[in-house]
Amino acid sequence: MIDFSGTLLQWSKLHGRTGLPWQNQKDPYKVWLSEIMLQQTQVATVKERYIEFIQVFPTVRDLARASQDQVMALWAGLGYYTRARNLHACAKMLEEQFDGQFPESAASLVSLPGIGMSTAAAIASFCFGERISILDANVKRLLARFLGVEEDVKKALVHHELWQKAQTLVPRKKEDMPAYTQALMDFGATVCTPKSPKCSNCVFQTSCTAFAQSKVSMIPLQVKKVKNKIVQSEMLFILANQQVLFELRPAKGIWGGLWSLPESSWVEAIEAPSKPLQLSIRDFQGLPVDLLELSYKNAKLLAPRRHVFTHRTLYFQIRIVKLSEKFDLNTNHYQWVNISECEHLGLPTPIRQWVNDYLLS
Ligand code: ADE
Repeated sequence: MIDFSGTLLQWSKLHGRTGLPWQNQKDPYKVWLSEIMLQQTQVATVKERYIEFIQVFPTVRDLARASQDQVMALWAGLGYYTRARNLHACAKMLEEQFDGQFPESAASLVSLPGIGMSTAAAIASFCFGERISILDANVKRLLARFLGVEEDVKKALVHHELWQKAQTLVPRKKEDMPAYTQALMDFGATVCTPKSPKCSNCVFQTSCTAFAQSKVSMIPLQVKKVKNKIVQSEMLFILANQQVLFELRPAKGIWGGLWSLPESSWVEAIEAPSKPLQLSIRDFQGLPVDLLELSYKNAKLLAPRRHVFTHRTLYFQIRIVKLSEKFDLNTNHYQWVNISECEHLGLPTPIRQWVNDYLLS
């Protein structure tokens, strides 16, 4: 049996990635932040945003003491906003219950908000040398190929078995754990890639089960994706004396916890919609019907815009409702914001893009 961890460590000395701002880092706050940012976002995007985040919040304490809006605004554009809410909740929990210190074992780390088992293992192995394997999608792919696992690695049982196997492969010495964890990530990202893996240069060529059986392209098993659903909505850009009305999105769901424009419910469509939705001001719950009915009817409806999410494609149309004066809403789910201040709000990406275009037009 090949010395898996020794071979991988040797490979990483020559070919591992270098120069990433979160590398060779033992500060669990910085490792945690980078791991959360990297969960669904490309390395190239995370690089800048990570540095910016650390500048604004240099310690977990600074993050814990920030407002939710500050955190969301700094996260805007990175997507998957549950990550930002969990990040803030986790920082607060560490501050309140752990005296601002990260626990040192993966088993304790996994009990914190937003930290799954693989992220817990990354933090514990990078910062505290715990002998525990990460098992993100990259590592699952490389292990499934190396071991010749032909079942669906997304299934809980297969995932569990891969985890047990992964644990048998970690280095014996805890000092090797940080480099080993980084090597697993680097190898999955640069050699054992989803498409066109670099098998001809692979250090595991003679020990990889999938390679020996010519099954590399079939492992991991690809389960067919369902087609993206199409949805349509309308949003209101209500403008009064240079002030715009924003609505806080519910914590759960798309753009949860971000400020956005008041929006009608999503309507499903079979294909890209050819007509606007036929709505009235009553379809925007929470807004004063009497005050807005006439202005709504006379308001200009702009051309639809498209935004593609992971599982849905949204076509939204913005209606510009101009009022002579603003109205009061006795709730903190709405706020009027000066048009020049909009950039400080944590807006969803397509709304931010539209507002920027509007301000430039
Ligand atoms: N993806 C997840 N964690 C990473 C890391 N530490 N370096 C590069 N890519 C990663």
